Amino acid sequence: MHKDLLGTKDLAARDINAILQSASEMKAAVKSGYKKLGTLSGKTVFLLFYENSTRTSSSFDHAVKILSGNSINLSVKNSSVAKGETLIDTGKTLDYMGADAIVIRHSQAGAPALLGKNVRASVINAGDGMNEHPTQALLDLFTMYEHFGALNGLTVTIAGDVRHSRVFRSNVYALTKLGAKVRVVAPETLLPAGIENMNVTVYESLDEAAVKSDVIMGLRLQLERQSGGLFPSIAEYSKYYGITKRHVALANKHAIIMHPGPVNRGVEICSSVFDENYTKINEQVLSGLAVRMAVLAMLIRREK
Ligand code: CP
Repeated sequence: MHKDLLGTKDLAARDINAILQSASEMKAAVKSGYKKLGTLSGKTVFLLFYENSTRTSSSFDHAVKILSGNSINLSVKNSSVAKGETLIDTGKTLDYMGADAIVIRHSQAGAPALLGKNVRASVINAGDGMNEHPTQALLDLFTMYEHFGALNGLTVTIAGDVRHSRVFRSNVYALTKLGAKVRVVAPETLLPAGIENMNVTVYESLDEAAVKSDVIMGLRLQLERQSGGLFPSIAEYSKYYGITKRHVALANKHAIIMHPGPVNRGVEICSSVFDENYTKINEQVLSGLAVRMAVLAMLIRREK
């Protein structure tokens, strides 16, 4: 492993497999009732979130604590960032306080990479702008791996606001490295530039893409990253790109429905699909804990 986890674009297939393997062991240990593992005893992890989060920030925090490390959640709003301190100076301050890892979410693509170049601590990207969200993709892969037993040959359909989604990018890089086929469905205005070079197949309708899919993944409509005018209305968007039981019926028999969350119920996934057993949104949350435990342990305890 490298010092930092900045994206899945830079991960080799063997690194991804090693993380999935370690996550399986972490999950088994947690389920068997070990409330605490000693893996990160004496280690300190700072959580530096410049954007809102429920799942990612709390699961990193919980993961550090289960591994017996010290987790320090920096409230950016109340920190000296609000007085104009730069990202690099903030990072160096945490370095001198003995940070073994810094988990960062930032609205600017590339902020975690910049931080990683300037601090001794391992830097973990918890989402940077529209660029990458590697631990989300790894937990998505882990959820698929647990359900299907392998990723090679799976057909994964990703529907929705692809253009603004760091989850999409990280998933495509990781899934295609492990031999999955990725289908994409989105309004043309919500497709990113360069999609033709991403090793995915673009479909015009979710009905077509859903046929014989193993996974249908909805993405959140990221209104906060849009200035409007990209689609006529939420109702129309939902009609063409929202996942319904019709799409589940078109997919393979053992297909699963996924979404990274937070979900706009009734927009990206209709409410009746959300609550079915084949919808793995809650399992994704549990996978997130196991994957983040694995990533923290592997980066912090790597051979220095
Ligand atoms: N999926 C995800 O990143 O969720 P949060 O924004 O709640 O962390």
